[in-house]
Amino acid sequence: MGTDFLSIMISKARATQIALDLYGLHGEIAILPGELDFNFRVKTDSRSYILKVSRPEADIEYIEFQLALLNHVANNSIGIESPAVIPDLHGNQLSEIIDETGQPRKVRLLTWIEGRLWSSVNPINNQLLNSLGEQAGSLTKVLQDLDHHKARRKFDWDVAQASWTCESLHMFSEEQQLIVTYFLEQYNSFQEAYQQLRKGLVHNDANDNNIIVTHDLIDPNVKAIIDYGDAIYTQIINDLAITIAYAVMGKPDVLSAALPIVEGYHSQFPLQEKELEVLYHLVAMRLVISVTKSAINKQAEPHNDYLLISEKSAWDLLEKWKQVKEEQALYSFRNACKMTPHPKETEFTQWAKNKSVKLSSLFSTVEKEQIHPLDLSVASPWIGHQSDLEDLDDFQYKLNRLQVREPHQIIAGGYLEPRTVYTSSAYDKPGNSGTESRTIHLGIDFWVPAGTALNALFNGVVVTAVNDEGDKEYGGLVILKHQEDQFEFFTLHGHLSIKSIDSLEAGQQLKKGERFGTTGNYPENGNWAPHLHFQIMLSTLGFVDDFPGVAYSRELKVWKSICPDPNLLFKQPGLQRQSTKEETETFAYRKKHLGKSLSLSYKEPLKMVRGSGVYLIDETGKKYLDTVNNVAHVGHEHPKVVKAGQQQMAILNTNTRYLHDNINDFAKTLLSTLHSALSVVHIVNSGSEANELALRMASTCTEQRDMLAVEVGYHGNSSGCVDVSSYKFDGQGGAGAPEHTHIVPLPDNYRGIYQGENTGARYARHIQEQVEHIQSLGRNVAAFICESIISCGGQIELPEEYLKMAYDSVRKAGGICIADEVQVGCGRVGAKFWGFQLHNVIPDIVTIGKPIGNGHPLAAVVCTQQVAEAFDNGMEYFNTFGGNPVSCAIGNEVLHVIMDEKLQENAFLVGNYLKSELEKMQREFSFIGDVRGQGLFLGLELADQSRNPLTDKAAYLTNRMKDLGVLMSTDGKDNNVLKIKPPMVFSRDNAKELLSGLRTVMLEDYMKQ
Ligand SMILES: Cc1ncc(COP(=O)(O)O)c(C=O)c1O
Repeated sequence: MGTDFLSIMISKARATQIALDLYGLHGEIAILPGELDFNFRVKTDSRSYILKVSRPEADIEYIEFQLALLNHVANNSIGIESPAVIPDLHGNQLSEIIDETGQPRKVRLLTWIEGRLWSSVNPINNQLLNSLGEQAGSLTKVLQDLDHHKARRKFDWDVAQASWTCESLHMFSEEQQLIVTYFLEQYNSFQEAYQQLRKGLVHNDANDNNIIVTHDLIDPNVKAIIDYGDAIYTQIINDLAITIAYAVMGKPDVLSAALPIVEGYHSQFPLQEKELEVLYHLVAMRLVISVTKSAINKQAEPHNDYLLISEKSAWDLLEKWKQVKEEQALYSFRNACKMTPHPKETEFTQWAKNKSVKLSSLFSTVEKEQIHPLDLSVASPWIGHQSDLEDLDDFQYKLNRLQVREPHQIIAGGYLEPRTVYTSSAYDKPGNSGTESRTIHLGIDFWVPAGTALNALFNGVVVTAVNDEGDKEYGGLVILKHQEDQFEFFTLHGHLSIKSIDSLEAGQQLKKGERFGTTGNYPENGNWAPHLHFQIMLSTLGFVDDFPGVAYSRELKVWKSICPDPNLLFKQPGLQRQSTKEETETFAYRKKHLGKSLSLSYKEPLKMVRGSGVYLIDETGKKYLDTVNNVAHVGHEHPKVVKAGQQQMAILNTNTRYLHDNINDFAKTLLSTLHSALSVVHIVNSGSEANELALRMASTCTEQRDMLAVEVGYHGNSSGCVDVSSYKFDGQGGAGAPEHTHIVPLPDNYRGIYQGENTGARYARHIQEQVEHIQSLGRNVAAFICESIISCGGQIELPEEYLKMAYDSVRKAGGICIADEVQVGCGRVGAKFWGFQLHNVIPDIVTIGKPIGNGHPLAAVVCTQQVAEAFDNGMEYFNTFGGNPVSCAIGNEVLHVIMDEKLQENAFLVGNYLKSELEKMQREFSFIGDVRGQGLFLGLELADQSRNPLTDKAAYLTNRMKDLGVLMSTDGKDNNVLKIKPPMVFSRDNAKELLSGLRTVMLEDYMKQ
């Protein structure tokens, strides 16, 4: 191009002149990229335009085709937006200038569509992909009543003309050639059918830089698809294939990213079954064109780095696309178009309707014809603790017990059940919204003993007889193929003994009723309690030695169609699936009949049904990394804690009016973590109750009522606690501080009234002032209550010396110092077991709540002998539930687990790592104002440069993190602080997952605005 190009180039100055002379436009001119034309953005005071100047000797007919296209779309009746052609001052849509070399050049002016380029939008979620599909489908619809002879031209980028690419195979590596050859062969094989598909004029190039997205940073939509330069008359489905090929690049799960596009396209321009049958391959062919073009261009311009980048993303996608099972793609596309995912599903269902298959046809040696259902779903109470499921001997024992109770029935169930049995990471994959786990069980499990003989249900051929080795795999696996008049189907038998299938060979014929194997025992059956996994498939999807027995819940509809319910054959009432309550139903009941001031987390609330370590699991089996629930201190449903509670519950639960060792043991363990001055324990049921008792003790001891508390502090939900909780009485629905409560400023070094270093004394002075104020009223201070790190206030660490000076002032006046450890106690702060210990003070009363029961309602008040004696004034302190043997067994176990599993040390190490990584992020993202906290009690405050709270960003972040499978929550008086206080078993890997999610969201457009 070199000198030629320079001589035909249009300068900015010339473009400015053209805009003025031809269109009367004064505006700012910017050069835009263009393959054929020289393009400029003209920005006037009122709006923007694109000025297009052709090359000399441009193809006038082609330009006229472009004008016809633009005018046609601009006049559409369905409201899609497109660039409009602006006539020059003489009313011509196509003008002409003479360039410096005396050659005529064609000039056009188009309106500029405001918005963001797709290539700059982050995140691209399903809703936006769907909107892209809708826009592309609408454009196709509009283009169908236009034709032009220039649309029927030879064009390398037309997927229908892609065969030329086979000549460039030599430019690729051997591996790349294999991929391209595969797709070329497939493409050639369906040419006949392909030629019969609908043709029409289509856009043909919805790439990242041709898609305009609205400016909305939440729920944006595609506004327009621009640049009709590649429009062509071709098979219409090619247009969708191209749209998919560009939009799914870079996505971890490319097939699932394609589906919303297909759905959107179909909603505007209904697709035909035959078109969907080739869609998968057409996506690949567009990529083949793209990588071939890149290879050719690279040869021409070896130093053009940009070409390398675009080539790499196309190759990455092509490789990934090759991994997608073609048939699965087809059924998923069909599902997206509201067709039956598997085309033979209805036929199979009809056929199966007239069958009545006896259980003894499958198990000829088992004389039982009925099923006892077994629920192994994620929420199943029969499973009990997750660890009970994982211990095969225990599980088998429970099964045996059940079988003894139900001697005449086969224990079975599981079709479409969401399960969490699959702990092996083989069931996980990175999805487009965080990690996904396969949870939906596709077959029926028959819990028959090892060695049970299996018979073929129908005449068939062995297609697979293998040892699918590995933990939680199938072990012995046999797949049989059965042929009916209209269709074929397969029956899968998993977890068989290896020996029993040794004699089977692929291709071997089996007669109906013929015995072909026996169930296996663990470990050879994939390490399961003995059972048969029986599944029906209408296709093998190209799997040879394996087939998924569990699916991702997002794909349930497709898998349900590929793998129909085996009970269509057996017709056993016991195998009918119980419908579970819809989330909306649960929500509606709660809204009407449960306390109206109960709140729910997240815009779309979650329904959790199981906890396990650092995870909460919803009813579809989706795992969420929990970074918020410090109540599940030693991990959700810690097996030892659960057991301690269960065991004691089975023996005795009564009140403290009897002697019992549990209460003493618990008290002893608890006291071993505290200074010897704190030596008397009262056991209660909640943090509120603990603080209520502490306040009452203080009043009784001092015979005073005046309390000192910290701004935005929270101490509980009882009247007495709300009276000292500024978070409540100064918040919504509150009526300000009561007469006997005196609030001191929140000692916040970042946004408080004193900021920076050494603020302890300045904040503590307010305590002394309040003491003096109380005394000036002729009264005195009863107590000062303070959290050791202020939680609801926004994870505020107390400044150095603050607590010491505060305690001095209070004690000098005869008051009691209460440390509220409800949030931070029990090793969470890492460096010490209790938060107040970070400040070298010894309170008179310590209140302990949330963590101590690991979710069980248990709390405690520990005080000095003096306080305890003064409180014992003759009025009995009775608490029906507080101190019962079950609660104490649990509390004692929690403390032992913290010590045995070194969880305080873990909090220190993982907390420090997490904090330092967050500090690094703070240097990168200006909206992270402050990172603070200790151990696994951290806060991330979002604020602008002037320290104004960024509440909306914090809300966005938590909701997006939920989408990525990480639970987070905000606090602080402006709700702009992300609180991080996960179960203490939170590992470094968990921290990495959290950090990676945060980084993903922090890079999104909403956060960057
Ligand atoms: C610091 C603090 N104290 C007391 C309480 C009250 O505890 P509970 O909800 O167990 O009554 C809470 C609860 O969030 C708290 O954060």
